[in-house]
Amino acid sequence: MMKQKIVAGNWKMNHSLSSAEELLHHLDRIVEESKKVNTFVFPPTLYALSAAKILNHKTVDWGVQNIHYEEFGAYTGEVNAEMVSSCNGTAVIIGHSERREHFSVTSSSCNLKIRAAHKCELVAFYCCGEPLEVRENNNHVEYVLQQLEEGLDGIDPNHNLVIAYEPVWAIGTGRTAENSQIEEMHSQISYFLQQKWGEMGKQIPVLYGGSCKPQNAKEIFNIPNVDGGLIGGASLKADDFIEIIKAANESS
Ligand code: PGA
Repeated sequence: MMKQKIVAGNWKMNHSLSSAEELLHHLDRIVEESKKVNTFVFPPTLYALSAAKILNHKTVDWGVQNIHYEEFGAYTGEVNAEMVSSCNGTAVIIGHSERREHFSVTSSSCNLKIRAAHKCELVAFYCCGEPLEVRENNNHVEYVLQQLEEGLDGIDPNHNLVIAYEPVWAIGTGRTAENSQIEEMHSQISYFLQQKWGEMGKQIPVLYGGSCKPQNAKEIFNIPNVDGGLIGGASLKADDFIEIIKAANESS
């Protein structure tokens, strides 16, 4: 069975409320482009209610860029999965490399976050990817599989799960990974998922992220075992993001 392509926009810490709302209005009208594509946006949490209000056509889902794994309590500055789902959010990014680098997130805390997301029926976008020095030492496959091993330990594959492979050195740098590098890692990840969960593992989408843009999206989406993209910079402008969704719609 063919998996549906996924294109997800990670806005990170960008946009004012008015420019965020303008972008959401644009995206709400992309019915034609997104027929065969599951589209998600991840605005800053503060704009979640705008997303809930504006994204009426159900062609675009929204989520947040991080959650805490606890249910409720004294965790200043945090939001939990239940809060996201009570605002009609459907997804969460977990373990983005920027959170691993700046906010002490580890694969084992990601494991707790994925469990919390699944408890509230959110789609967990679990990110993995190696830093440059790991790639240069040729340890990238072991490194990424270890992130998957720890992050996915004991997770039920029946729940909504998406993997995003994002080589750290390709994020926000304009330096996209080469097709052969993407192909190698995606085939390793797909094999890992299949070994772990059999048929269920085969159904889990694996996205590529890292300097994906309108000019290279179609080529990337046609690489074997690439089921779409997690897009940072190019998701901030409606025209670029819509071009990428079209590329996913047209790719095999
Ligand atoms: P980028 O970011 O597309 O700007 O490289 C991707 C990401 O961090 O998810």
